[in-house]
Amino acid sequence: MSTDKVYIFDTTLRDGEQSPGASMNTDEKLEIARQLVRLGVDVIEAGFPISSPGDFESVRRIGEEVGDACVVCALSRAVPKDIERAAEALKTAVRPRIHTGIGVSQSHLRDKLRISEDTAVERGVAAVKLARNFVDDVEFYAEDAGRAEPAFLYRMIQEVIAAGATVVNIPDTTGYAYPENFGALIAGLVEHVSGIEKAIISVHCHNDLGMATANALAGVAGGARQIECTINGLGERAGNTAMEEVVMALRQRQDVFGADSTVNSREIMRTSRLVSSITGINVQPNKAIVGANAFAHSSGIHQDGVLKERSTYEIIDPADVGVGGSSIVLTARSGRHALKHRLEELGFSLAEAEFEPVYDAFLELADKKKEVYDEDLEALVGEQERTVREEFHMESVQVVCGEPGIPTATVELVDREGNHMIDSSHGTGPVDAVYKAINRMIDVENDLTEFSVKSVTRGIDALGEVTIRVRAADDRVFTGRGAHSDIIVASAKAYTNALNRLLISQRKIVEEEL
Ligand code: KIV
Ligand code: ZN
Repeated sequence: MSTDKVYIFDTTLRDGEQSPGASMNTDEKLEIARQLVRLGVDVIEAGFPISSPGDFESVRRIGEEVGDACVVCALSRAVPKDIERAAEALKTAVRPRIHTGIGVSQSHLRDKLRISEDTAVERGVAAVKLARNFVDDVEFYAEDAGRAEPAFLYRMIQEVIAAGATVVNIPDTTGYAYPENFGALIAGLVEHVSGIEKAIISVHCHNDLGMATANALAGVAGGARQIECTINGLGERAGNTAMEEVVMALRQRQDVFGADSTVNSREIMRTSRLVSSITGINVQPNKAIVGANAFAHSSGIHQDGVLKERSTYEIIDPADVGVGGSSIVLTARSGRHALKHRLEELGFSLAEAEFEPVYDAFLELADKKKEVYDEDLEALVGEQERTVREEFHMESVQVVCGEPGIPTATVELVDREGNHMIDSSHGTGPVDAVYKAINRMIDVENDLTEFSVKSVTRGIDALGEVTIRVRAADDRVFTGRGAHSDIIVASAKAYTNALNRLLISQRKIVEEEL
């Protein structure tokens, strides 16, 4: 099957900027335009010059900057002063296009423009003719075509092509269409408009009902060969067709569409991130292609499949859209296979007997946290390594503290013979109370010389690591570390860890002396 080219018309800098809160200055627009060139889009709609001096300047500078790398387009209404301003802004562009148009739905004709169909056609035709005096490439948009009477839309399109339009844009301005009827509308143009072969049919869909991508693709199936879209689906109200979605849908399903763009998909993620960081509008995590979870696998069944063969649960190779790789999200639903794999990636190859306690500790932590990060695993493995040989270990710790109140701790320890000891103490704070309770059971002289706590993982449920130093009676210093999502527990673990080292070293000295 031969593959037709679908032109990608990026309107992030015009319709995308109409997202509330997304306005960008000229330098920011230039930075995005440079990246759009790297991405390989065919057309950049750089702004609406009549709307503000800033938009005028952005169109002018982008036109100069991109040279012949792609077409630079400026928006205008079907109004002479708009078209003249657009032409002025594009004067130095190497491949300029003027995008002009007028409403075609009954709603727009009757309630907004308050003109007849005949007047609308006259204005549309006049606008195209005027624009053609300035540039060879003129795109006409039939605003609100998604709600227009098809017969009137076809008449308008036929007339503007005869007047010199090179591209005819069929916008579903209000996001009202659904794929079947939008595809049929485009197919109807191909069938009923004489001269349609002289122009490229473009689709410009809004996402009010969440169908912008589906409608744009239905348009391609109906005969459209240009898609207007934005990075991350930005745009007026619910946004526009997302560039990354249509590009990847065409690429993955050429068997269905028989058409593809020439976009370099490996630049998609970089472009998405740039647009997010400049506009301050973050991508939802479950967004197709560019969301943080788009290549993340969370359930044990999926993780097992992906680790055996990526394609079992992934239809796109993450590298093809510039993502480093799939990720296995470690949660309470992850199995041994996923944990072992991640530990190996982190450089820990544990024997079976060493792995089981780490897995148990992982499940315990995963029950408390939503997600277990690499730093958590490093802390967990370290924790297991530190608890291999112990004189005693901490079984449980409970504290009562607050203001007002007396910080009090109850600690349960178990010695090497399996004997349980429980004691309580109060202190100046919860950690002091815990340490004093431990001292009541483990009678070994020491001074706490250093105490530090740091968060080793991200988020509110982060794992805290406590490091302490204690000085023994003979002046030797012992370090202890403990990690836990509760820093009081981490502190107790750090202290038992330091005391164990101290006791083991004392026992060694005694054994050597005997
Ligand atoms: O949604 C729309 O109709 C538009 C036109 C200006 C192309 O953005
Ligand atoms: Zn739009």
